[in-house]
This record gives sequence, C-alpha cells and structure tokens, in this order.
Amino acid sequence: MLALAGKHHPRARLTGVASYLPERVLTNAELTEIVDTTDEWIRERTGIRERRIAADDQATSDLAVAAGEAVLRSTRTSASDVDLVIVATTTPDHIFPPTATLVAERLGATAAAAVDMNAVCSGFVYAFAHATAMVEAGFARKVLVIGAETLSRIVNWDDRSTCVLFADGAGAALLEADDEGAQGDGVIGFELGADGSGKDILCIPAGGSRMPSSTEGVTHEDLCIQMQGREVFRFATRIMIDSATRLLEAAGLTVDDVDLLVAHQANERILDHAVEKLEIPREKVVMNLDRYGNTSSASIPIALAEAAERGQVAPGDLVLMVGFGAGLTWGAALVRWEPRA
Ligand code: ACO
Repeated sequence: MLALAGKHHPRARLTGVASYLPERVLTNAELTEIVDTTDEWIRERTGIRERRIAADDQATSDLAVAAGEAVLRSTRTSASDVDLVIVATTTPDHIFPPTATLVAERLGATAAAAVDMNAVCSGFVYAFAHATAMVEAGFARKVLVIGAETLSRIVNWDDRSTCVLFADGAGAALLEADDEGAQGDGVIGFELGADGSGKDILCIPAGGSRMPSSTEGVTHEDLCIQMQGREVFRFATRIMIDSATRLLEAAGLTVDDVDLLVAHQANERILDHAVEKLEIPREKVVMNLDRYGNTSSASIPIALAEAAERGQVAPGDLVLMVGFGAGLTWGAALVRWEPRA
C-alpha cells in the first residue's frame, strides 16, 4: 500500500514525540552470566551494549502511559482533547482488553477511541499511517500514537541468539489536524507492506488460537520469540532500502531531501547497510540501539524523541521512518518535524 496525502483534506502534523525507558539497565556483561555469550560477540554482531528491562510490576501499559504523559505535557495538550489512542505493541498487557483502552483511561483521554495495532517491529509506522488516515479523513483532530513493548517477557532467556537482542521501552507521538497546511507539510506519505510467506522466520509459535498455551506438549520455548536470524537479516537489509526508495520516488523526493532517517533499531549492521546503499550521511541516521537494544514497535519513536532532544532534528526537517519485522511486515513514512513552539 502506497499513499500520498491528499490536496484538500486537513493535513496531519507531527507536533510532538517523547519516550519512556525503564530504569533497570541490563549490560552485555550481565548477559554473559545468563547465557553462553560475550560482550564482544554482542557488540560486533549487533552494536548493542546494554538495554532496559521493565521492573517486575511494570506492564506494557505502564510504559505507554509514561511516554503518553510526556508527549501530552511537552505539547501542552489536554488528554480530554485526544480523539484516538493507538498503541502499537506485540506485548499487550492482556490478550484483551486492548492495552490502548487501559492507556487512554489512565491518561484521562475519556473522549478517545482506543485500539491496539500489532505489526511487530513495523507497528509504529503502521499505527502512524492509520492515525494519519483518520486525521486526513476528518475523523480525528488529535491522535496519540504510542509504540510500547515489554519484550523481556516473551524472550527465551536460555536462547543466546535472541535474548541478547530484545528489550523494553515506549515512545509516543502526537498527530494533529491542520486545516491550513499545504502539500509538502505534515505527513507526506507512507508505504506499508506485508508478506505472510515469511511467517515462520520470526514468530512465537504458541499461545494463540493455532496452538493455545494449554495444548499438550507446548513448551516454554514455543511461547517465546523464535528467529532465523540470517533470514531476518537478509529481509531487513533488502526491504529497508526498497521501501524507502519506493516512497521517496512516489513523493518526488530523493535521499538528499531527507534530513533524518529514523529506522527500526534492530542491528547496527542493518543500519550501516542502509547508510551505504541509500548513500545517506551517517550523521543523518539515528542510532541508539547501543543503549536500548531492539524495542520493536517502540524503537522508532524512542529514537526520534532522542534525536529531537539532542537537536539532531530541527523544525521543518524531513524525517524518513522505516520499520520492518515479523509477519513479515514493513513500513516507511515521510513526515515534516513540526513541534509545538
Ligand atoms: N553469543 C555468542 N554466539 C552466538 C550468539 C550469542 N549471543 N548468538 C548466536 N551465536 C552463535 C551461533 O550459535 C552461531 O554459532 P555456530 O556458527 O557455531 O553455529 C554463530 O554465533 C553465528 O550465528 P548467526 O545467527 O549466523 O549470526 P549472525 O551474524 O547472523 O548474527 C543476529 C545473528 C545478530 C541475530 C543477526 O542475524 C541479526 O541481527 N538478524 C536480524 C534480526 C532483526 O533484524 N530483527 C528485526 C526484526 S525483530 C521483530 O520483528 C520482533
């Protein structure tokens, strides 16, 4: 699916972004006490040095609420003015109710519709695109888009090939309607895609309706992330370039127009590949997975929030977001960074 914002509808503007990271830091050195690995292997193969892990009493909604509160505060937005809360997550508090309803209630977004979106590591971009569509169609004026994960709860801590990668965190963005916006402002467009034929290379086999956790013979491993790392790596490197290129071409833009690339923080080598193939200067690429690891649908808003905080992105800058993950799914979005003054 490829879409460019229309000419005569309200524009959707990205006016704020914030993040929340749990306090507990888990270093590579600590992981060597849990599985047969080394700090050197993890750093060289992934770029990760440490990651954050939620406290025992923190669920995904707790992280999401903290990030949501921060973005409402920074944009001086009243929760009661929010029309829609979308929580992108693959680790909801419960199968139901949706995590978004819990988040909306705790934020005081009593007038908002609330729904979860699970597109795994592409979840934030998918949620962002759906939020844009709701704003541009005139159905919503203010949408809170949150990516939040507690992946530490679904990794197999005996599997060194996955437990060193995944972590916890949340990021939140505010999208607002602007009736005066011109083409080229706000959200410019997005490209979303899915290929279910790759369903087995990254999955949690049990715990759903196909293989309920109560099924005889279901093991702990069946209820945790299982990944064919090399296959995912191949997919990720290809799709990041393809999706970004397709979207830029459709929007009549080039990489030179992009001020900041915020890609899913899965592996430093995947980001390096994007730098090389897209021929984008490294200083325009946000990299923070050394400190946070792979936080799935939270990684893009966390990275964007950090870039904004340290002044790596200025008002009016063109931001390219690219996510990819299990499903397989992918998504790219082009948007101007227009923070509330
Ligand atoms: N420490 C030490 N050795 C390890 C570890 C570890 N933590 N993990 C694996 N190894 C070993 C393997 O057992 C293997 O040993 P062998 O050669 O004796 O069999 C060796 O290291 C090489 O393993 P590979 O899997 O081939 O290593 P690779 O270089 O591919 O790196 C990695 C693995 C980091 C997982 C990489 O494949 C990767 O990043 N893949 C992409 C992950 C990704 O992008 N995920 C994003 C989507 S996430 C989502 O949607 C939820």
